[in-house]
Amino acid sequence: MSPNQRGARPERASATARTHMDLFEYQARDMFEKHGVPVLPGIVAETPAEAKAAAEKLGGGTVVVKAQVKTGGRGKAGGVKLAHSPAEVEEAAAAILGMDIKGHTVHRVMIAAGAKIAEEFYFSVLLDRAERRYLAMCSVEGGVEIEQLAVERPEALARVAVDPLVGIDAAKAREIVAEANFPEELRQPVAAVIQQLWTVYAEEDATLVEVNPLVRTEDGAIVALDGKVTLDENAGFRHEDHADLEDKDAADPLEAKAKALNLNYVKLDGSVGIIGNGAGLVMSTLDVVAYAGQQHGGVKPANFLDIGGGASAAVMANGLDVILNDPQVKSVFVNVFGGITSCIEVANGIVGALEQLGDTATKPLVVRLDGNSVDEGREILAAANHPLVTIAPTMDGAAAKAAELANA
Ligand SMILES: Nc1ncnc2c1ncn2[C@@H]1O[C@H](COP(=O)(O)OP(=O)(O)O)[C@@H](O)[C@H]1O
Ligand SMILES: [Mg+2]
Repeated sequence: MSPNQRGARPERASATARTHMDLFEYQARDMFEKHGVPVLPGIVAETPAEAKAAAEKLGGGTVVVKAQVKTGGRGKAGGVKLAHSPAEVEEAAAAILGMDIKGHTVHRVMIAAGAKIAEEFYFSVLLDRAERRYLAMCSVEGGVEIEQLAVERPEALARVAVDPLVGIDAAKAREIVAEANFPEELRQPVAAVIQQLWTVYAEEDATLVEVNPLVRTEDGAIVALDGKVTLDENAGFRHEDHADLEDKDAADPLEAKAKALNLNYVKLDGSVGIIGNGAGLVMSTLDVVAYAGQQHGGVKPANFLDIGGGASAAVMANGLDVILNDPQVKSVFVNVFGGITSCIEVANGIVGALEQLGDTATKPLVVRLDGNSVDEGREILAAANHPLVTIAPTMDGAAAKAAELANA
């Protein structure tokens, strides 16, 4: 992740929706190739035997075996190994597969042709939310940790603003390589690759394209040896092929279920399940629960679930179904302010879901309703008189009760 990217994407915002998808290096490589960015041949393998076969397919020369995990610093962690024969590739793959790199288990390796590297450079382009434009960063000192370079020698990292309406055209690409102090003879070939990388960024609706290292090989070619791409999932409707890039192994089963039900759900680590309507209300609910939790053994929210405006009883029931199936959840706080959503629908959803679940529902629910048809909603809940449901009049009171129940 680039230094700017981190500041521009606060933790909280990412909890409101699945808005971006990071790609594996091999997926970025394929995408680069599709848009004409020079890359080396690469084949993905899931077992040492497959890795060996891949090396044979590449012609048996020097190759690199590269861990495919969505984190940087693989080289330093031992996840990138040179190998000079198919037998060595098999050995390297056996060592790398199953390795843990910064909490990511390696399930796949990419066998890539080995480059004879003369020099390593850095290039990235990303969405600069604060400035409402794009930012290109480039350095003739690539290969190293770019965060470190940005801190220790900021002058070595050129930062060039990119107007979204113009993008990186030939003039902008020349400006970038000049700012980065590329020697005269490299400016044209590097600028050409930068323009191709811009095509990836623009045509694939990415929010980040990063190449570290971009290299000059001994025979003078400019090649992208590593690639990181983050796609804007809000543009997913324009890219049918992007759905196939999703890492199905990593998806939390409840998140997958929620997605299939069209619910805006994010799993968190605590034990109080949260359902609310509207991202703002759900976020405040996370805060009051975390605050109340301090008085009750430090319990925390277990998830973020926004049933949205105008939610029906069925949506409420689906939401409860997802949350009650999370084994970490000990209590649930339903916090709804009826606007377009009527509290009648919400109450019917809760009662209906509990009826359907029958004896399998064992977790206490604290419900705070307010707004549109609040009296009727509370009456429905009171009439149902379900032993697991507590009706709370205020948000703070409800949060305290839910925290207490989760800690019981
Ligand atoms: N195909 C390759 N041929 C030769 N060396 C490579 C190749 N791919 C990567 N390397 C070397 O390994 C280093 C780390 O690889 P990289 O793909 O950048 O992984 P990471 O950024 O996760 O450490 C690179 O800086 C480069 O020196
Ligand atoms: Mg790298």
